[in-house]
Amino acid sequence: FEHTVLSGKRVVITAGPTREPLDPVRYISNHSSGKMGYALAEAAADAGASVKLVSGPVMLPVPPRVECVQVETAEEMLAATLDGIEACDLFIAAAAVADYRPVAIAEHKIKKGSEEIMELRLVKNPDIVATVAGLETGRPFTVGFAAETRDVIDYARSKLARKRLDLIVANDVSNPEIGFNSDDNAVTLVSAEGETGLPQTSKRQLARQLIEQIAQHYLKSTS
Ligand code: C5P
Repeated sequence: FEHTVLSGKRVVITAGPTREPLDPVRYISNHSSGKMGYALAEAAADAGASVKLVSGPVMLPVPPRVECVQVETAEEMLAATLDGIEACDLFIAAAAVADYRPVAIAEHKIKKGSEEIMELRLVKNPDIVATVAGLETGRPFTVGFAAETRDVIDYARSKLARKRLDLIVANDVSNPEIGFNSDDNAVTLVSAEGETGLPQTSKRQLARQLIEQIAQHYLKSTS
């Protein structure tokens, strides 16, 4: 390979949406395509890393030389992420995790009643990236994403601090050219020290640049 900045390193990446069941036939989810996370997994493998991709339900092929663990719910994604995390050097949270899940999953299909209004009770899901970043032992270098529609850098910075991340990738999703389902993206990589803008390009190309940048920050933190 031409690119081996991450050779010998273990990388875990979350990608895609989570799916939170309501009953045997229904769920709450979002429009995440998983493209950015899968592109990062491919770029990390091309950079020489051994990559575990923890993926919610998406319609994408698993990149070559990437181990993929398929999950549905946020709780499953957390368990699959924590399994073996102490052996991991770098964690990148690119998944669009549902913030809340139904309090209970009905055993049978919920029937339509005569009421016009139906209320759902939801409970907060665990924050996967904050859990990993808060590990007392075996904490990997931890990178999050911040998808925002306004004050993108400010919100990203406060998330960086609140979740105790090493880096955060700030993503302006108010622009439909670079949002959730598109093939292109443009981001700003934010650390405690500064910011690096990565202009609009394909998610595949952007992933290569991001892995290069993230690897530099990670290697600096270990030296
Ligand atoms: O707080 P917010 O959801 O905007 O933070 C986004 C970042 O946190 C992303 O890196 C996302 O993958 C991660 N996240 C997570 N677990 C959650 C919610 C968000 O890992 N329950």
